[in-house]
Amino acid sequence: MEIIRVKDAQAGGKKAFELIEAAINEGAGVLGLATGSTPETLYQEMIHSSRDYSEIVSINLDEYVGLSSEDSQSYRQFMNQHLFNEKPFKESFVPNGKAENLQAECTRYDQIIAEHPIDLQILGIGQNGHIGFNEPGTAFDSQTHLVDLTESTINANKRFFDKVEDVPTQALSMGIGSIMKAKKIILMAYGENKQAAIKGMIDGEVTEALPASVLQNHPNVVVIVDEAAAATL
Ligand code: GLP
Repeated sequence: MEIIRVKDAQAGGKKAFELIEAAINEGAGVLGLATGSTPETLYQEMIHSSRDYSEIVSINLDEYVGLSSEDSQSYRQFMNQHLFNEKPFKESFVPNGKAENLQAECTRYDQIIAEHPIDLQILGIGQNGHIGFNEPGTAFDSQTHLVDLTESTINANKRFFDKVEDVPTQALSMGIGSIMKAKKIILMAYGENKQAAIKGMIDGEVTEALPASVLQNHPNVVVIVDEAAAATL
């Protein structure tokens, strides 16, 4: 893993943007994208750049179960608001959290990933070390699957909702096996509340108890961390 320390989220977004630019210039045509507050500065850089993404395909990591793509709290809407409305891609895939048959939706999403191998995957990290919505205990060879969110994740994400009861308790997430197939991975983490997860991911043992630790087994990972997240490294 290459570790890049930056001053703050602003500088991290700039750095990640430069790496994406380099990858696209070298022919990357499929970007794996993430939600959460962490990638917001990156998406701002993308929006304010002159780069045209209309020939690039994007595949998002996850979506809440029970929220339609029109719901303002859905990850589809998050992506529209933070990136796609300003910078349309050729195609942008997000799992359908309202699918009648969630298992069939997982299979459909795996087919999409198989048809569009991910050149560069963007990741944040949960406080418990989750990537996408792959919670601790998820198999390293997992594909797209239905997830019961942990209390820690529900609590961490309640800030985006009016009240904690509104936070969905389930999600569809791209699996760890699919994330690991990406040719290159950029994981970003900012703030003191990510310290423990980052320390475990980089210096700890590779264990399903800390999903992001699997990245130690990937040949091309860049970790962008601010001073607070990197403080105990
Ligand atoms: C959610 C998302 C993850 C994200 C995490 C951290 O759980 N599914 O992809 O990494 O939140 O979010 P934040 O960046 O807001 O800390």
